[in-house]
Order: sequence, then structure tokens, then C-alpha cells
Amino acid sequence: MNTLTTTRIVFFSPTHTSEKIARAVGEGIGMPRRIETDLTLDEDSSPIEIKDELTILAAPVYGGRVAPTALKRMKRLRGNHSPAILIVVYGNRDYEDALIELRDMAVALGFIPLAGGAFVGEHSFSTPELPIAEGRPDETDLREARRFGKECLEKWEQSADITTLSVKGNIPYKALTPGQPACPACNEKCFVCGECVDVCPTHAIRISDDGERIETDVNRCIKCCACVKVCPNSARIFSSPFAAILHEKFNARREPELFF
Ligand SMILES: Cc1cc2nc3c(=O)[nH]c(=O)nc-3n(C[C@H](O)[C@H](O)[C@H](O)COP(=O)(O)O)c2cc1C
Ligand code: SF4
Ligand code: SF4
Repeated sequence: MNTLTTTRIVFFSPTHTSEKIARAVGEGIGMPRRIETDLTLDEDSSPIEIKDELTILAAPVYGGRVAPTALKRMKRLRGNHSPAILIVVYGNRDYEDALIELRDMAVALGFIPLAGGAFVGEHSFSTPELPIAEGRPDETDLREARRFGKECLEKWEQSADITTLSVKGNIPYKALTPGQPACPACNEKCFVCGECVDVCPTHAIRISDDGERIETDVNRCIKCCACVKVCPNSARIFSSPFAAILHEKFNARREPELFF
């Protein structure tokens, strides 16, 4: 029987849905020791050695692929044959080739993929006026994530040999479609508190030298909407033409998909 005593939870999660799912999976595993590696604001590139830890890798889906910033930040990880649970979180449209891409990257980094899951999180572009998977992951999703964690542990403990993990997705992956540069803007309700500055994963936001305005570097913005969701005064707005389409077309609830 395989035994391990530590879970490592690695995530990139600007609006915290991937983080919530990853933590719930960790809870379901229930090991005595849990370490978190939050790559959301971490631009360091020094290697992170992971050894003899049941590892959870969680990232959002952007354009049917793993969010490129998440992939870039995870490249620091050294798996050293540790088993990995792969999680992608998407906004109720589709995850397309994201899970297979995360699996392939995990292998390239030296992990042994054990299981994979595609979960739903509130869409980054969701607003109270145009909700898209609003409030997800909800309690049902988190229960499912905890159950998934428990089953992953059972698989790890009972398997003599872990064979290649099959997940949904295509190779070659869907082409990346970064789209036109765009970023959220502040309206007249902004009181320059700086909370949005602190949560930006790419450090695209700053307070102007005279301290009177928020400035955003559109070329650094990854449209993650962390700044929009954290603003205490609803003063940060991202006007995406996709929000209305997503709200209209992808309102049927999708459920988690799990692969062992
Ligand atoms: C630029 C961008 C592209 C996205 N593309 C997709 C997509 O292809 N399919 C989907 O269902 N959701 C998509 N989403 C929504 C996110 O995957 C979803 O909101 C996820 O829960 C965000 O994860 P986080 O809370 O960990 O940041 C996209 C979000 C952004 C910002
Ligand atoms: S969090 Fe909102 S109010 Fe505060 S600086 Fe940013 S946009 Fe302005
Ligand atoms: S400025 Fe862009 S990258 Fe920074 S938090 Fe806002 S949406 Fe995300």
C-alpha cells in the first residue's frame, strides 16, 4: 500500500474559485499535513521542489485552455514523481482542452497524474446584471470536490501501479485566442483605496503619482477580473461583449466531470 502524509495544494486563482475547489479536494483527502502554494501573485521563478506529497494542481480555464499565466507560474514546480490531482475550473461554458493540457504539463514537470477533475466556478465576467454561474462553486460543488479528494486518496493507497491518466480533450490543443488588449476601468465611485492594486496577479494596476487616480497597463492585463470582484464600491467595471452572450447561452447548470 502507498502511504503519504502530506498534501500540497498548488493554485493560481485570481477570483478564488479554483482555490476553493482545490482546498475542498484537500479537505476530502484529509491528510494530517497540508501545505499551500498560492501562485496567484507570485512572479518568482525559482524552482519549487515537491517530493512525497500528494499534490493538487488547480487553475482556471481561459479560452478552453489552462490560463497561460497559471501554466507559466507552475513551470517552477519539480514533481519528483509525486502523485498529482489535476483540477481545472471553468465558468460553465466549456473547458475544452484545459484538463489534458494540465495533465501533459504535470507529466513534463515530473508528476504522476492520479486523477483529474473539471469543476465549475462563477465566470470571471459574471456581474449581478449578467450572472454567469453566479455563486459557484456552491455547497454541492464543494461536497463533490471533497468526495473526489477522498476517492483520489483511495486510488493512491490501493494502486500498485498508476497507469496513464485519460481525460477529456484534444491533442493538438485548441489554438490560443488572446483577443484584443482590454482591461477594466474605474468609474466615478472609485475612492482610490488601492485594494484592486493589491490583488492584480500581473501588477498591471497602480495609483497615479499624484495619488488621485488608478492607472492600468492594458498590455499587462489578463482580464482575470480579480480587481472588479474585490472592489468594495463596485467602481471597477469590465465591459466585455462576451458577458451578455455567456449569460444567455450558458445558463444551464453544468456539473463536475471526474477522471480516474
Ligand atoms: C480571459 C478569460 C477567459 C475565460 N475563458 C473561459 C472558457 O473558455 N470557458 C469557460 O467556461 N470559462 C472561461 N472563463 C471563466 C473562468 O474559467 C472561471 O470564471 C473560473 O472560475 C475562474 O477561476 P478563478 O476564480 O480561479 O480565477 C474565462 C475567464 C477569463 C478571465
Ligand atoms: S478597489 Fe475600487 S475603489 Fe478601490 S481603488 Fe480600486 S477601483 Fe477604486
Ligand atoms: S487589471 Fe487586469 S490582470 Fe489586473 S486584476 Fe484587473 S483584470 Fe486582472
